[in-house]
Amino acid sequence: MIEKINNLKKEKNAVILVHNYQRPEIYEVGDFLGDSLGLAKDAVKTDAKIIVFCGVDFMAESAKMLNPDKMVLHPEKLSACPMANMITVSGVLEAKKKYPNAAVVSYVNSTADVKAVSDICCTSANAVKIVESLHNKEIIFVPDKNLGNYVQSQLPDKKIITVDGHCYVHDKILVENVREAKKNHPDAKVMVHPECKMEVIKEADAVCSTGQMITYARESSAKEFIVVTECGMVNALQKELPDKKFWAVGGTCLQMKKITLEKVYDCLLNETNQVSVDPDIAVKAKRALDRMLEVS
Ligand code: 13P
Ligand code: SF4
Repeated sequence: MIEKINNLKKEKNAVILVHNYQRPEIYEVGDFLGDSLGLAKDAVKTDAKIIVFCGVDFMAESAKMLNPDKMVLHPEKLSACPMANMITVSGVLEAKKKYPNAAVVSYVNSTADVKAVSDICCTSANAVKIVESLHNKEIIFVPDKNLGNYVQSQLPDKKIITVDGHCYVHDKILVENVREAKKNHPDAKVMVHPECKMEVIKEADAVCSTGQMITYARESSAKEFIVVTECGMVNALQKELPDKKFWAVGGTCLQMKKITLEKVYDCLLNETNQVSVDPDIAVKAKRALDRMLEVS
């Protein structure tokens, strides 16, 4: 199946973008493997005719909005991030009414219509940098409360207004889980994704997006790492850095795992599951994404 997909890719002038949490066999057909920010940048750079996005819905949607003239395929439409639906346009507008001087920063894990009413987007790799770049003191930060709290801890002069959104995978990770892993692997460095709760983040040697975890582990002299995020991340780390050891603390994102090699092959062969976004919304949402890419 891997060979068939790689042949089909050449035939159709397609690239496959793969998020780090995908099943490891999907890595084998990927042209780019990365985090949300890295993949958004790769999506802008490519001159291929077709982009197959192996990640959750908001990532494929962002790739389409950044490349309105390209065909973007999402191998499984049900691969959808639940956090993205934890904020609605009316939720943002209500917060805006309460805090009229605030800028709206939407995490890329959000729907296109929420991005369309946002001033700028951010990812876990650049959230602090993006908020810092804004002159507003008040920031409405949606939908991830944990990431918003982390940004607040790094930028005490800002007032971060959050809503009740969260990632069910990261929010379930307990500080006790991390402490136990530290006891079992005392020489390991601890990398934590900022979608975790603050008490878990406080245990970290490094707070990283998934892409930053690879860079941190590569550049560190340590040989072992405790990886506090979705458990598939250790596969990406192990692939990139086969001589180092990685210990996972965290559950599985079921939505990320819905994409299989068979679904990738079928959608590329038949050009099905084409991503489309309402053009009016897409134009506005793209502005927020472009602004993020300018700052990053
Ligand atoms: P990254 O951008 O760090 O890969 O995070 C995406 C995500 O959905 C984390 O749960
Ligand atoms: Fe969404 Fe969490 Fe899955 Fe990331 S890990 S895609 S935030 S549900």
